Amino acid sequence: MSNTTSRRSFIKLAAAGTIAAGATDRVFALEPQERRISAGDKIRIALIGAGGRGMGITPSALRVPGVELVAVADVYDGRLIRSKEVWGQQIATTRDYREILSRSDIDAVIVATPDHWHSQISVDAMNAGKDVYCEKPMVQQIDEGNGVIEAARKNSRIFQVGSQHVSSLIYQKAKELLAAGAIGKLNMIEACWNRNSATVSRPSPRCMTCSTGVKPMARSKTL
Ligand SMILES: NC(=O)c1ccc[n+]([C@@H]2O[C@H](COP(=O)([O-])OP(=O)(O)OC[C@H]3O[C@@H](n4cnc5c(N)ncnc54)[C@H](O)[C@@H]3O)[C@@H](O)[C@H]2O)c1
Repeated sequence: MSNTTSRRSFIKLAAAGTIAAGATDRVFALEPQERRISAGDKIRIALIGAGGRGMGITPSALRVPGVELVAVADVYDGRLIRSKEVWGQQIATTRDYREILSRSDIDAVIVATPDHWHSQISVDAMNAGKDVYCEKPMVQQIDEGNGVIEAARKNSRIFQVGSQHVSSLIYQKAKELLAAGAIGKLNMIEACWNRNSATVSRPSPRCMTCSTGVKPMARSKTL
């Protein structure tokens, strides 16, 4: 680590890593790669909980080549009707998510129900052999977490929690830069979440500062 790294060279490095100001949403996710998909490469998914979030993130999953939505479960019929309008009449719909889990042609599910269902549906899904992308929070009660981890391990399933903020490429790149000594000695951490949305009435930006040699600061996002 060099303490002589200049501000100019740091900014160059940062820009290369797209953490420069003005970076768009694209830096939050890996862009799908263009490639040919054979029938065997297809990943068939289902959405469980087609509310605001489920309808919002499923199109992102469908941008990945080879991913196909085949079924939607929701306890509210209006959401099922809307799902067919959006994704086509061929989409199978049900009020009972267990019907989806019993299908052998579904590889993975998105769980975007309210929080109190996350643990139960995720565990059931992994026990049924499905990989799971579950919205945050992973569980509602802390002790439910062990059951989810156990189900993932026991069934060798992929389980991802939708705290997209902490999965962001921005943080990966910041970690790399830090490890490479790009900023020299760490003296202060300032974290900031800017949100210029007229539709969400939360204070924005929210910033925190801490000076070091203090431990790294953990921070949770509650959107
Ligand atoms: N990661 C993020 O940034 C982010 C943002 C918003 C919401 N969320 C999370 O996403 C989840 C959903 O939030 P939302 O705003 O979409 O809520 P919502 O109420 O709009 O949608 C939830 C849907 O789940 C359905 N549902 C309820 N119980 C069900 C069950 N047993 N089986 C099938 N469907 C069921 C409801 O009918 C509803 O359509 C929450 O856990 C929330 O914390 C995450």
